[in-house]
Parts: sequence; C-alpha cells; structure tokens
Amino acid sequence: MIDLQLKEAHAQLVQVRTAVICAFSQLLDLKDLNTGIHSTRLAEWGIRIGRELGLGDESLRDLEIAAILHDVGKIGVPDDILNKPGPLTAEERAAMQKHSEYGWRVLRGIPGCARASLFVLHHHEAYDGSGYPGGLRGDETPIEARLVAIIDAFDAMISSRPYRCGLGVPEAIERLERGAGSQFDPVLTPAFVRIALTEAPGVFEATGPSR
Ligand SMILES: [Fe+2]
Repeated sequence: MIDLQLKEAHAQLVQVRTAVICAFSQLLDLKDLNTGIHSTRLAEWGIRIGRELGLGDESLRDLEIAAILHDVGKIGVPDDILNKPGPLTAEERAAMQKHSEYGWRVLRGIPGCARASLFVLHHHEAYDGSGYPGGLRGDETPIEARLVAIIDAFDAMISSRPYRCGLGVPEAIERLERGAGSQFDPVLTPAFVRIALTEAPGVFEATGPSR
C-alpha cells in the first residue's frame, strides 16, 4: 500500500515537473528567446552524446531539462540589452551574464530540478577557466553543463536575431572546433560535431534558413 502511494506521489511529481518545464519553455517562446525546433533538436543530440558517454538515466534527464531551459534566466534581462544591435558595454554585458544565475535561482526551487539548476548556473563556464560565473576549469564544470555550453553556443551561432543573420552550419562547426580545448570541452566537441555534420544539414534545411 505504502509502495503504491509512493509510486503515485512520484508519478505526480514527474507530471508537475514536466508541466513546469513546458510552461517555462513557452515563456521563452513568448519572449522569442527559444529557437524552437533548434533547441529541442540540439537537446536530443546532447542526450545522445551523454548516452554514448555512459551517463545514467537521471543524469540524462537533468541534462535534457538544462539543455531546454539553459537560458530561462534571460527573462530577467532587460529587453533593450537582449535585443541591442552591436556590442554590449561592460555594464550591459554584466547584466546579460546574470542570466545563468537567474536561471539557477528559478529552477533550483522546483522539486527534482536541483541538479539541472546547477548545469544552468554553469553553462557559460569555459574549459580554460575564462568563463562565468565561477571561472571553473575543465572537469570542475559538470559534464552535463559542458555539453550544454556546446549546445548553447552552436544554437546561438546558427540563430538569426533582428540585428544579425545566423551563421551557416559549416561555419558554426568550424568555430566550435576552433574553440575545443579553450572554450569547449575537447572530448565532447568532436562528439557533438560528428552528429551535427551528419544530421544538421537535413534538419536545418527542412526547417528553413538558420535563424
Ligand atoms: Fe546562456
């Protein structure tokens, strides 16, 4: 009996968590901060790489949440900074960089999202320690957050904004490869590139030009 109640309670928790994740994802769409099919597809690629690397089910689930909602904290960044054409001032950049902390704060309070919230907090760390907010190096950043960093960068590069056109997939891949070992994890990057090279052309041609 207690077993059954526990199972029901767990199923309810999973339902609530899924509903909250969908709600946040829709909020990102409303603010035009989600690149829709791109982000979802890239999250799938991240999970495949995680699986290849032997990450457990819980880890993969948290990776999926973080990959979809990594930029949820941008909801707290003023629109004039988010949409500013051209380079940001130092002050504006600092305000923009706050989004990873905002995302962590939002997600950590959701039951079952504590680990995913840490991956969101650290999705802008760089492999060489030059990232933010912690300046973590290499393995100090959780592997899931290192994967999200690659997904986020690729998504940002191929996405168009009102003030700039997204890069083509080949150029984005080239930039990822150039950043392997400094900005990005040198083992995860080639794994991601392998999938992107085989699947990106079909996916992104089918969904229209890079945006
Ligand atoms: Fe981000």
